[in-house]
Amino acid sequence: MSEPSTGGRTRDFASVLAEVKPEAERLLAEYPQRRSALLPILRAFQNVEGWLSPEAMSVCAAMVGEPLSVVESTASFYTLFYRRPIGKYMLQPCRNLSCTLRGAEPIMAHFRERLGVEHLQTTDDGLFSYEEVECLAACDRAPCMQVNLEFVFDLTADKVDAILAAMREGRYEVAALPQSAVPAKSWLVTQAPAKRSPGALRVASPDAPGGMGDRSGAQMVERLVEDPYPVVVRPTRERLVTDGAALLANDRDLAAVARDVRPDGAS
Ligand code: FES
Repeated sequence: MSEPSTGGRTRDFASVLAEVKPEAERLLAEYPQRRSALLPILRAFQNVEGWLSPEAMSVCAAMVGEPLSVVESTASFYTLFYRRPIGKYMLQPCRNLSCTLRGAEPIMAHFRERLGVEHLQTTDDGLFSYEEVECLAACDRAPCMQVNLEFVFDLTADKVDAILAAMREGRYEVAALPQSAVPAKSWLVTQAPAKRSPGALRVASPDAPGGMGDRSGAQMVERLVEDPYPVVVRPTRERLVTDGAALLANDRDLAAVARDVRPDGAS
């Protein structure tokens, strides 16, 4: 399996953590159980970084007192979380039935031509990421799309041109995402054909930024085999990987952890 690479961080995680921490502490105080704050804390990190970095997920695990695997499996369940660096505008036209019947295919072709990218790719300037997605539950306003998770309805080719022009000129109504790392050209995960069922060919998941096909699970096993010290075995629960706690407790550990959890998932 090949992995997309990134150009690395453009913002130090220590400054990200300093910005998110007060909001995370406020959220933790709102819930009787710390784990209930998991989703809003993940969202708080994504709002600051533009994506969910491995460091953010490690820290979040420590904050809510859950294993990193719980955080990763929660984040990967929701396509609303981006687990790879993406462009400042995430463009997601719907390609499902109602939108297709209402002209989604020529609109998607228009997007690809105007952007010069394909499905699951980011433009060279890092401004746009493009993904054709399944039903957005707005079939009554088909064809539709989401821009940074905000809906745009009744798409036409002219509307697409106007949206892209407004984004390039920095006057689009939906705010651009922050970028704490340089996005890779593509986040398509190439899988061995023999391991891929025919039904999975060319679908958004497992190649979606929040989808399966990521090697984070294998990465965690490798990390534990290399260095089992961060694991605390709890009597009735899953093992707790505590490396995120180090990030929280002592900023001097940031560099060491950042080496272990690089944005491109490479070991
Ligand atoms: S088919 Fe596009 S929103 Fe439902």
